[in-house]
Amino acid sequence: KNCSSNSRGALIVLEGLDRSGKSSQSSRLVSYLESQGHAVELWRFPDRNTSVGQMISSYLSNKSQLDDHTIHLLFSANRWEKRSVMEAKLKAGVNLIVDRYSYSGVAFSSAKGLDVEWCKAPEVGLLAPDLVVYLDILPEKASERGGYGGERYEQLEFQKKVAHCYEVLRDPSWKIIDACQPMEEVEKQLQEIVWDQVVACQKGKPLFNLWR
Ligand code: TMP
Ligand code: MG
Repeated sequence: KNCSSNSRGALIVLEGLDRSGKSSQSSRLVSYLESQGHAVELWRFPDRNTSVGQMISSYLSNKSQLDDHTIHLLFSANRWEKRSVMEAKLKAGVNLIVDRYSYSGVAFSSAKGLDVEWCKAPEVGLLAPDLVVYLDILPEKASERGGYGGERYEQLEFQKKVAHCYEVLRDPSWKIIDACQPMEEVEKQLQEIVWDQVVACQKGKPLFNLWR
């Protein structure tokens, strides 16, 4: 049996509050993996480029109003419309660094008071990440970082609720990084954590679906 036949890319997800540094750290991580000769792409959810993504974007910028359940399902649909491409990329050996995923979906919607199990249901069957990294920052600290950009959820009181919901969701497999450390330190810790997963997936670690 050819052991390398199941070799694939790793699905790495970064989660955290708004202004926790996910976007900067994801792109730094992508550059690092590229420099080490790995095939890698930077993805983010919501993906605002699709028509579903445009509806989400207009909701987030307060240009449209939607029922909480409706917007929740749109965020989920936005992941479903990318699922098959995602799987194809991973199987072609491309590592995917994903800035937010289903955990954002559940944390932000349940912070509004929606039932957690209801929130998880539409995520069942999406690809399960090989690794979830949580960039940990106090909501107060995040809000001090150059201020929020003015999107719908970028408010301290709401972010406190989201932080609590992330805590409920968090499981022992998550890697937590203190996001208040200097950027270079966060970057270094992230590289070390991700490396093991990239190697494990190259060796043929199986791919699972949410929500186990
Ligand atoms: P962004 O700032 O990373 O582009 O994300 C936009 C906002 O959308 C952010 O406040 C988190 C929120 N969000 C959800 O509410 N549900 C989701 O499924 C995702 C991916 C993001
Ligand atoms: Mg944002």
